[in-house]
Amino acid sequence: MKALVLAGGSGTRLRPFSHSMPKQLFPVAGKPVLLHCLENIRQAGIREVGLVVGGRHEEIRAAVAACGLDLSITYIPQAAPLGLAHCVLIARQFLADEDFVMYLGDNVLAEGIADLAERFRACPAQAQITVTKVANPQEYGVAEVDHDGRVMRLTEKPRTPATDLAVIGVYFLTPAVHEAVRRVQPSARGELEITDVLQDLVTQGADVRAEVFSGYWKDTGSIEDVLDCNRVLLDAIPTANLGAVDGTSQVTGPVVVEAGARILNSRVVGPVTIGAETVIVDSEIGPYVSVGARCRLGRAGITDSIVLDDARVHDVRELRGSIVGRSAEVTSSGTTRRRVILGDHSSMRIP
Ligand code: G1P
Repeated sequence: MKALVLAGGSGTRLRPFSHSMPKQLFPVAGKPVLLHCLENIRQAGIREVGLVVGGRHEEIRAAVAACGLDLSITYIPQAAPLGLAHCVLIARQFLADEDFVMYLGDNVLAEGIADLAERFRACPAQAQITVTKVANPQEYGVAEVDHDGRVMRLTEKPRTPATDLAVIGVYFLTPAVHEAVRRVQPSARGELEITDVLQDLVTQGADVRAEVFSGYWKDTGSIEDVLDCNRVLLDAIPTANLGAVDGTSQVTGPVVVEAGARILNSRVVGPVTIGAETVIVDSEIGPYVSVGARCRLGRAGITDSIVLDDARVHDVRELRGSIVGRSAEVTSSGTTRRRVILGDHSSMRIP
């Protein structure tokens, strides 16, 4: 089985960060969302990955090259975001006549996809989708499924959903999908929808199955989503110290300190990840904080937040539920509780 990973979309709901980085590279629990996805693929025993990329492909290539995963990656450029099924169309040569899993590069499944892949390998269906119960099905593809798990109908973002089963961005597909892709027309939003392609297979009488995913899933569309994902994925991190913690610092709970990072006269309460070469002085960090690489935190107090690479936080004591962008700077002289969403390369001084 191959994998087709989609990382071409821009992600307007993640503004301001999506202006300056592909949303698939947004870090949660110390790693870009896309790398969590590639790890899941490797854990499912898949090595050959087609990665669909758009205008921001250089940054994605650099992040993937640096991650050191044992994967064979073929980059597939998509000139414009013309839909998920359009990605299948342009990946035709890479996919050849093999089964594959199509995985949306902004979806996070905390438990991975190994179980789902096993179920697909053991099942003779033409396609296997993944569904989960949600409170807001109108924001997703929605499935109607019979009591044997066979898909009866699929509708993309219906105004009045027939069920509360949202389609998760992990689709197990066979070569039968290629003919169906050629049969569908672009939707009202001008995209070739994978939901329409799967509905076409159902209409043609193909066996399309739905597997219920009961673990943690998130389509990391918004700021609240990434903070939520950050908390859940941090809960599963190991403890690893490749940096330096001085004698006056206290580190408790699961904390990952990357190489070259230094913690001086500070208290770190896990789960927390601290990126390479970051320096933390006179601060209280955690729980539920991911700090990127090469950051400088001084007299800072941060909980439940994400601090991206090269950011600086000084004299801000109660930062929570916050995101500090790459190379951004927050400073303050006060001590009140703060919540900031600060885009890349911006600067903020709180009086
Ligand atoms: C896409 C699919 C939708 C699916 C969702 C999962 O939506 O079209 O059916 O439920 O991914 O993340 P989009 O993110 O393109 O709005």
